[in-house]
Amino acid sequence: MSTYDVGAANLRKVLQGEDQLVRSQWPPATAALLGRHSLSNLAGPDHARLRRMMLPAFTPRAVQGYYPFISSATSAALEAWCGSADPVLAYKAVNSLALKIAIGVIAGTGGPWMQAEAFPAFQRLVTTWLEGLFAWRIDLSWTRFGKARKARAALDQMVLESIEASRSGTEFCAIRVMLDARDERGVPYSTLELLDNVMTLLFAGHDTSATAMLCLLEEMRKHPEVIAEHGEELTPTALAAMPLAEGWVKESMRRTPVVPIVPRTAIQGFEEGGFWVRPGQPVVAGLRSTMQLDPRFEGSKPLAFCPERWMAPEASRDAAWMPFGGGPRLCLGNLLSMAELKIFLALLTRRYDVEFLDHAEAWHYIPLARPLRGMPIRLRPRHLTGKAPSA
Ligand code: HEM
Repeated sequence: MSTYDVGAANLRKVLQGEDQLVRSQWPPATAALLGRHSLSNLAGPDHARLRRMMLPAFTPRAVQGYYPFISSATSAALEAWCGSADPVLAYKAVNSLALKIAIGVIAGTGGPWMQAEAFPAFQRLVTTWLEGLFAWRIDLSWTRFGKARKARAALDQMVLESIEASRSGTEFCAIRVMLDARDERGVPYSTLELLDNVMTLLFAGHDTSATAMLCLLEEMRKHPEVIAEHGEELTPTALAAMPLAEGWVKESMRRTPVVPIVPRTAIQGFEEGGFWVRPGQPVVAGLRSTMQLDPRFEGSKPLAFCPERWMAPEASRDAAWMPFGGGPRLCLGNLLSMAELKIFLALLTRRYDVEFLDHAEAWHYIPLARPLRGMPIRLRPRHLTGKAPSA
């Protein structure tokens, strides 16, 4: 029987107890499709070694370097949504945007996958691969897992070409960082390590961000306040000075965490919340329940959408805010995602009015939150409506 762990203190104990109390344990299909060198499948020193070598691609400075590209990719996407004669299905649209941003960060902005002609085929392969990650591990040509395996082989080929192109390129990106990295013994990433971890970044960094953008849109549908107030250019200073936008992003991720649980297995016996967990027992770290119910959010009702709660001076509720996990496996892309989401929110609300066309749409939440009819929307340029942006 699994232990379902909630409560910030319990959760922190489990997340920080990685490799001592517990070990990450993904379902068989996920583990196989990510590859045995993936950060998600490695543990202990092997995990720490590859993680350390990838880290320079996600420092605050590195993330600031991605701002211009993220802003221009987001602007271009929003312009296209606005120019569309038909309603836009937000689910598909944010997926393409998040994939473009992920590729730009992983492989650089000039790579072949980014080109308009190549992108749709690449996106189809990524989608087929992702669809197999949480399927049964039955390797037949017609199963979701079998199709995903085939897609992964084709994607590997594309990633290898991109790695080769990056060897002679100079643009800063995650592949460049991984190519230059050496461990403490001077050993670089092997080709298989590179392949598995480029794919891990694609998995970890694309669908998650797309889902977070959708959840932000859903909060805008329910609470149509306008929140962007800064100038045309989203500089690091402008982004840092957007407390309400930050509150929106944090509150949206608190109420609908993109990753609701993270899977672990106990590697030794320990006491948790009054229960004894046996070695080998599955432990489910409940990010969603903890963030929704922690007493620190009680003041203005824990389940209410209240971005302002993050603006109060005593708002150090971060200790119970864990949408990016914690401990040695804390999300590597957490700063990048926060920037991505704030840029998305700011450009959208500053320049456009969003009309939501389906107010009765149901969602499902496993493995990731999804509106069942794709969330049809229409965008109109804000200046045509005569409304001025307000804070
Ligand atoms: C809203 C967006 C995102 C959310 C909510 C999110 C959430 C998470 C969570 C909860 C984990 C921990 C999993 C565990 O403990 O087993 C994780 C790990 C990870 N994330 Fe994210 N993530 C997001 C975006 C990104 C992005 C944009 C990237 C990079 C492009 C990224 C890269 C990673 C990597 C590499 C790991 C594995 C870390 C390790 O095992 O050492 N994530 N993410």
